[in-house]
Amino acid sequence: MNFLQETLRVLLLSVYYFLEAFVKFLLPVGKKSVAGETVLITGAGSGIGRIMATEFAGMDVTLVLWDVNLDGVKETARAAKEKGARSVHYYRADCSDRAEVYRVAEQVRQEVGDVTILINNAGIVTGKKFMDSPDTLIEKTLQVNTMAHFWTYKAFLPAMTEKNHGHLVCIASSAGLIGVNGLADYCASKFAAVGFAESVGLELVAAGKPGIKTTIVCPYFINTGMFDGCGTKWPRLLPVLEPEYVAKKIMNAILTDQTFLLMPRGMYFLMFLKSFLPSKVAVILGVYFGAFNFMDTFKGRQKKVD
Ligand SMILES: NC(=O)c1ccc[n+]([C@@H]2O[C@H](COP(=O)([O-])OP(=O)(O)OC[C@H]3O[C@@H](n4cnc5c(N)ncnc54)[C@H](O)[C@@H]3O)[C@@H](O)[C@H]2O)c1
Repeated sequence: MNFLQETLRVLLLSVYYFLEAFVKFLLPVGKKSVAGETVLITGAGSGIGRIMATEFAGMDVTLVLWDVNLDGVKETARAAKEKGARSVHYYRADCSDRAEVYRVAEQVRQEVGDVTILINNAGIVTGKKFMDSPDTLIEKTLQVNTMAHFWTYKAFLPAMTEKNHGHLVCIASSAGLIGVNGLADYCASKFAAVGFAESVGLELVAAGKPGIKTTIVCPYFINTGMFDGCGTKWPRLLPVLEPEYVAKKIMNAILTDQTFLLMPRGMYFLMFLKSFLPSKVAVILGVYFGAFNFMDTFKGRQKKVD
């Protein structure tokens, strides 16, 4: 194909895909059925991991729940069964430990079978200024928020690739798109998670595996306890999100094969601004939105959940 032909083809296809996206935005998109799928959620022992598990419970899936907190994940399993889940398997798994991820993944394959929907949701936050953050916590943050995604993909993606069927879900953060004062290691881990998930998604496109879908989720603060104490300056503009709302939006994104989900909607506009604003304007906007002080009142989880 020569240059003119290829350029024309790209232009026409771009217009077509723009129109398709516009129609999808206006009309409700049909949701896929996940009946019969095996859904693994990491960090299912509390917060949005637990709510997602209970949302999936009524969808005729096999649930595989992982968390470093055994009591928490046990409680989630109980709640999922109460909501009608037909098959629930829970495991204590420390996602920061590569050997443990591989070991528990093998146990899941033996006891349950191949995972077809993988939701990397486990996450931690240091909540300190970079120079005050202990090295061990910085490493742990990267291990849980980023590297665990590498190892779970390595464990579960081969079976998806073989069948050209599956869904990879990365629960990242708006802090994976915009740097935040006081969240350096967390932002690094979430930027990396976004870049990793996006790149593997493109590898799958290049490899001709359209049956494996990918979804990257970037929410603003959620009222789960992880960021307890953090305030938002203009709650109407950038509200702290309710976990039930976030879980519902994530479920909708998975069931409609949405590639990127940013929450609240204002985040899409902020990302657009970030792409072209002079850096000094970005700084005064950051101050205006309170981004320089989000972490000043951070307390984080005060007690172990369940
Ligand atoms: N809460 C927020 O404001 C917010 C905002 C944006 C993104 N997120 C992301 O959403 C995800 C879920 O967060 P949440 O708000 O439900 O928090 P949460 O603290 O309620 O849930 C996180 C879960 O991960 C588990 N976990 C921690 N370390 C682990 C490890 N090493 N191995 C296995 N499990 C481990 C915890 O035990 C916990 O059950 C996280 O990835 C978080 O970074 C949260």
